[in-house]
Amino acid sequence: MQLVVVESDQVDAATRQALRALWDRAFGDRFSDEDADHAYGGVHVLACAGDRLVGHASAVPRRIRFGDLPWRTVGYVEAVATDPDHQGRHVGLRTMERLHEEIRSCWPVAMLSTGRATGFYERLGWERWRGLSCTRTATGVVPDGEHGGLMILRCDPSFVTDLSVTVTCEDRPGDAW
Ligand SMILES: CC(C)(COP(=O)(O)OP(=O)(O)OC[C@H]1O[C@@H](n2cnc3c(N)ncnc32)[C@H](O)[C@@H]1OP(=O)(O)O)[C@@H](O)C(=O)NCCC(=O)NCCS
Repeated sequence: MQLVVVESDQVDAATRQALRALWDRAFGDRFSDEDADHAYGGVHVLACAGDRLVGHASAVPRRIRFGDLPWRTVGYVEAVATDPDHQGRHVGLRTMERLHEEIRSCWPVAMLSTGRATGFYERLGWERWRGLSCTRTATGVVPDGEHGGLMILRCDPSFVTDLSVTVTCEDRPGDAW
């Protein structure tokens, strides 16, 4: 398996099409057009087996506020997927480890939101966010209610020391987190 690192603006139309097919196969009907849009705007790691795309993870910059600290730009991981035919063979692990290198060179921390893969990310050094989460909308900051699936990768542990404060993101089309 080969890992290819590419910026979003270098992803050609054929690769975009292959990526959407991969996400639809891996996530099923849980993956929306907005989810696909969220994956672009940063850096991708593509896992290839021969000429077949079998895995993906990307990280994009997002403005996040931790507690009452100033808003900061951090990495946000999106659209992590391994083709079902290749799952359980460490494709996801290796893809994420390569993405971590990119994250470390760009941002002090990264975040993500996951429904079912918390254990997968914990194995990679991610920690569960313990505080509440909010979204800053056009009309103000709105609590998200129960979330539970937010995680953080602390490349620089001094950047965020308390994982139990409220964390706020900016709103966007589709899922805010
Ligand atoms: C989650 C996903 C990317 C994992 O990819 P993968 O290539 O099958 O994972 P790997 O083989 O690299 O797994 C690495 C380790 O994590 C474990 N793991 C994998 N998925 C896991 C999960 N959902 N929960 C807990 N542990 C998991 C594996 O058992 C393996 O452990 P081991 O090293 O002890 O054997 C893949 O299952 C997938 O595409 N799922 C559907 C889409 C999705 O949910 N993406 C994440 C959204 S945030």
